[in-house]
Amino acid sequence: LRRLSERYYPHLHIGTAVSTIPLLSDAQYARVLAQNYNMVTPENAMKFQFIHPQPDRYAFADADAIVDFAERNDMAVHGHTLVWGEALPRWVTEAAFTDAQIQRLLADHIATVVGRYKGRVASWDVINEPLQPFAPTLRTDSPWYRAMGEDYIEFALREAHRADPAALLYINEFACEERNAKSDGLYRLARRLLERGVPLHGIGFQLHEDLTDEHKPISAEAFRENVQRFIELGLEVRISEMDVNLHQHDSPERLQAQARYYRSMLELAADLPAFSGFSTWGFTDHYSSLQAWWEPEGFGNGLPFDAKIMPKPAYDALRQAL
Ligand code: XIL
Repeated sequence: LRRLSERYYPHLHIGTAVSTIPLLSDAQYARVLAQNYNMVTPENAMKFQFIHPQPDRYAFADADAIVDFAERNDMAVHGHTLVWGEALPRWVTEAAFTDAQIQRLLADHIATVVGRYKGRVASWDVINEPLQPFAPTLRTDSPWYRAMGEDYIEFALREAHRADPAALLYINEFACEERNAKSDGLYRLARRLLERGVPLHGIGFQLHEDLTDEHKPISAEAFRENVQRFIELGLEVRISEMDVNLHQHDSPERLQAQARYYRSMLELAADLPAFSGFSTWGFTDHYSSLQAWWEPEGFGNGLPFDAKIMPKPAYDALRQAL
């Protein structure tokens, strides 16, 4: 995959989320990763609760392992994520901080994490999932919003930019792939920020999808139609977390439908120069997050490599898209 993209679509990083444990312990995982991808997103290692578990202690080992691996294999790193309402340690959510203290600790966190990886992390999800799950308004249930209101977004982007002026700064969101009330809200937010001169460079569209009898995923046409307006603002865009869960329906026909769907999305990304990346949320069903938290029965099959890390039809379809 990576050879094809580097040859024909140099603007487009082909990426995946990665976890530290398999990276360090599963040679097949590491080999397939380095062969096929030229960008990695730490799946959890850079989230606040893992990288900053106590007020005066950062834990960089897992994130360092991913960044080191990426450098050794000539891959870019997309940082994920600096400011989110989830994956927060209790010392942030449960302590009684004043608003000014919250603002100060967010600034320190951003300066420390972005500063450590300055020049080594090409782009950051500075803001993750700022909007209500299915509404155009901001989530209000984070310490960041409670302390600063909407200003936390501008504040975080400016702090990140100060810490590494060369890094490209993203807002990452789900359920915004097609034109709907939520993506309208995201569009207005991005436009407001740009009008104020805030350093926002791109939008990540997560693209966690289900493909079942009951659920037809967002079409590439609907996505193209919506993403255009973000591009017209001068932003880059990326598919940041794609997976296509078939749930129990993993017949050969479904695997083909999954493959066609992957292909349609990568073709779209390759076709538009504003797409900086196409990333899946993991690459093998074996270590997929779909296994653990969406699927009580321990079965998720949304990625291009199967549970033995062998290519599925979706993998061949991705190659064909390039
Ligand atoms: C998920 C990880 O994949 C899981 O391992 C973890 O337990 C929870 O978070 N949107 C995001 C990601 O932006 O950070 C989430 O990752 C998946 C949804």
